[in-house]
Amino acid sequence: MSDTERTAAFTDTALPERYERLLGPALFAPWAEVLLDAVAVAPGARIVEVAAGTGVVTRAAARRAGQTGHVLATDISPAMIAFNAAHPPEPGAAPIRTAVAPATALPCADGEFDVALCQQGMPFFPDRPGAVRELHRVLRPGGVAGISVWTPGHEVVPFGPMNGALQDVGAPEPFPGGYDETSYVLSPEQVHDLLADAGFTRIDARETELLTRWPSVDALVDAVHGTPFGALLTALDGERQKQVRAVMAGRFSRWVRDDGTLAIPTYSVIARASR
Ligand SMILES: C[S@@+](CC[C@H](N)C(=O)[O-])C[C@H]1O[C@@H](n2cnc3c(N)ncnc32)[C@H](O)[C@@H]1O
Repeated sequence: MSDTERTAAFTDTALPERYERLLGPALFAPWAEVLLDAVAVAPGARIVEVAAGTGVVTRAAARRAGQTGHVLATDISPAMIAFNAAHPPEPGAAPIRTAVAPATALPCADGEFDVALCQQGMPFFPDRPGAVRELHRVLRPGGVAGISVWTPGHEVVPFGPMNGALQDVGAPEPFPGGYDETSYVLSPEQVHDLLADAGFTRIDARETELLTRWPSVDALVDAVHGTPFGALLTALDGERQKQVRAVMAGRFSRWVRDDGTLAIPTYSVIARASR
């Protein structure tokens, strides 16, 4: 059943460490700050996060909420949540609890939180309206939701070039629709409508650009191992792996600067809305 397989794309226990190390610093951590700026997380905030993964947003939110706040990080993948939970507490940051839970059934009471966050979880949810209704349910009146998701109209970098290189050599999809670029993106209007239909008000959903910086082409190619597509590369024989890596490198070459580092513009909807 396709939706189930897609939502389980991050269950491999080797993935969380690679995801965080290879994709966190250059991509997901800088985007986390953009999302947290948009929702203006205040000291003392009670925060719930959906599809929290390894905790890149979780820990940034906890720093902003400070000692008097608290964060509940949830995700459907036990592997992601185990890795998230294993991070030591940071001095001065809010305490973090974790729970394995689908976005549509959070283990929380109605109105329990001031802030509800979801960074790049929407592409994997079988029931996006249900997930946004759940954010609404767990927020107190006046609480704020923050959602980010890649936007259409731009190649989703680095994932589009990586996945395309694997598709070109006939590697199978790691989950149904895995090569369908449209399945990873939502327009500002689509996010706005999901929020409005769930009952949110004061909705601001806009495309935002962020220039991401990568140390080298090799680092960017290696980052495929932080995604569910990495196993496809590993499954190829040595010569074929080299070929695919070379194709990926070629696709990234237009962003290489004179010093060998890369600067790549990326585009997400950043949405903020009130309960
Ligand atoms: C691209 S990762 C994003 C992780 C994290 N938010 C970040 O910004 O680094 C997508 C996450 O969505 C989770 N996920 C997929 N389907 C889900 C569902 N139905 N409910 C909750 N989490 C889900 C995956 O396990 C994975 O951790």
